[in-house]
Amino acid sequence: MEADRVGGEHSAPDSPEVARAVEILLDGGLVAFPTETVYGLGADASNAEAVASIYRTKGRPPNIPLIVHLACAEAAVEWSAALPPAFSRLAAAFWPGPLALVVFASPRARAVTAGLPTVALRVPRHPLALRLLRAFGGGLAAPSANRYGRVSPTTADDVRQDLGPDSPFILDGGACEVGVESTVLDLSTEPPTLLRKGAVTRQHIEEVLGQGIDEGSEGGAGPHRSPGLSTSHYAPRARVELHGPADAAGHCIALATTAESWGFIGPRSAAPPGLDNGRLVVLSDEPDAYARGIYAALREADRRGWSRVLVVPPDEAGLGAAVRDRLSRAARR
Ligand code: TXA
Ligand code: MG
Repeated sequence: MEADRVGGEHSAPDSPEVARAVEILLDGGLVAFPTETVYGLGADASNAEAVASIYRTKGRPPNIPLIVHLACAEAAVEWSAALPPAFSRLAAAFWPGPLALVVFASPRARAVTAGLPTVALRVPRHPLALRLLRAFGGGLAAPSANRYGRVSPTTADDVRQDLGPDSPFILDGGACEVGVESTVLDLSTEPPTLLRKGAVTRQHIEEVLGQGIDEGSEGGAGPHRSPGLSTSHYAPRARVELHGPADAAGHCIALATTAESWGFIGPRSAAPPGLDNGRLVVLSDEPDAYARGIYAALREADRRGWSRVLVVPPDEAGLGAAVRDRLSRAARR
């Protein structure tokens, strides 16, 4: 078994929590852990049974592949059949960090690929994730630690609330720094294809590669489709409606006379004046700070029992594009 785990740098656990987590993982169990993007539901990526229990716990369809998390870029050769030149340039520029790179898979990755010829790899930058990965010494398969189709967790408490009695052992690393899932870039196509927007933007990638990349056409058939990116993702229970900053106030006035439970989520500058605090979840005008708070805001809408939520998205800059992408999927549910 030992020889099967290849995740990069290996070192002894540096705390009782990490030691316990490693013990559980070696035993084929699940551990939730923080990354800089969202919390992950981790299992030994080379153990097919452990990986199967991720799918069971999330209620995730078996045709959606998982990302393998590694302690360092050097470990990628073990999980890949071939690493293109773009791989090392992007890994050097963005790892550890919020970028998952899709490359042709080696047989070691077969438990996580959902039958695809490719595997997604990522070195996260949360210090606790890196400590866990180094102590485990293998690759960790980890989707976001939420039930399938729900909002990704950005705190340990979110994981507990979402998974309830199925919650595994959780390493608590506080609130996630980025707040939305990693960028997913497919390097098995030429040019590479952006499958999911995140903190590493198209522009960042094109600057490092010195070439243009494609954008995946979500949902459709064909090679540019990412199996996990259906429109039903990232949705709270409340119905999400997107509005521009200019017309949000008008919609709120119109809703004021209905008996329906509803509320507003948006940047401070777009918050309709005079709206009762109970109907308001205010986020930052700055897109990256907005991103850090958006999933908590959507959970708050559900906690308040709203059936309908008016959302004003952030500007496109920085993480704004990724947040707008997630919100438009939530609205099309
Ligand atoms: O930020 C993140 O990436 C978080 C943290 C925990 O690292 N993880 C995460 O995993 O968001 P998950 O499983 O919720 O999303 C992974 C996405 C899915 O949309 C999946 O379809 C795509 O990555 N993906 C994984 N392997 C792939 C592959 N071989 N080809 C294309 N897309 C792939
Ligand atoms: Mg997810």
